[in-house]
Amino acid sequence: MPAFRIDGYVIVSADGMLADASGVMPEALKFEGDKQFFTAALDHADLIVHGRHSHEGQPNSPQRKRIVVTRKVERIADDPTSPKTTLWNPSGAPFEAACDYAGVDAGTIAIIGGPKVFDTFMDRYDTFWLSQAPKVRLPDGEPVFSGVPRHTPQEILSSHGLKSGQSQLLDANNGVIVTPWQRRQTSQTS
Ligand SMILES: NC(=O)c1ccc[n+]([C@@H]2O[C@H](COP(=O)([O-])OP(=O)(O)OC[C@H]3O[C@@H](n4cnc5c(N)ncnc54)[C@H](OP(=O)(O)O)[C@@H]3O)[C@@H](O)[C@H]2O)c1
Repeated sequence: MPAFRIDGYVIVSADGMLADASGVMPEALKFEGDKQFFTAALDHADLIVHGRHSHEGQPNSPQRKRIVVTRKVERIADDPTSPKTTLWNPSGAPFEAACDYAGVDAGTIAIIGGPKVFDTFMDRYDTFWLSQAPKVRLPDGEPVFSGVPRHTPQEILSSHGLKSGQSQLLDANNGVIVTPWQRRQTSQTS
């Protein structure tokens, strides 16, 4: 088995949305403290995984190896527009095969969204870093996971075997925090 560590990263509104009603991440969800936290995490990742609309768009982005999840390929292929990018269709090939194709056989993998991609890895996260902006509401926005808003993001992470750890404050004026949700080590019996 490859020695991967799989971490998820997202910032959500108080009502569990990662984008607004038009499917775009609004300025209201962007905070300098969260951006710094996210950038530092990606700078330490060996591979980044995301959907077509979730590129992080940072100065160091061209240096990063990435996998883009898409139905546009049958299995796995190079991205003709981006030399460090592998295109992967989860219904055509296992994730490990896409990592192998990307030249990554160990290390830390950052899953950065959006919802379809987060759902795909729900039972594989070692830690999911959930940032929350409690003063922002995005009615009719795009939910971070399937099952939101019927359930909160926290309830969904918990139902998939993750347990919350100590939160860190990222923006005092806006009450923005990030909480690590870590995989429980003991097997569940219920
Ligand atoms: N707040 C945050 O922290 C945060 C984080 C991440 C994203 N976002 C926002 O969320 C919004 C949505 O992003 P997104 O469109 O990248 O998210 P998404 O819903 O995860 O992306 C859809 C991606 O998954 C692929 N896909 C969907 N169903 C598939 C299937 N059955 N098999 C294979 N691939 C499948 C699509 O590929 P094809 O259509 O090419 O087949 C597309 O690349 C964006 O506005 C983004 O800015 C916000």
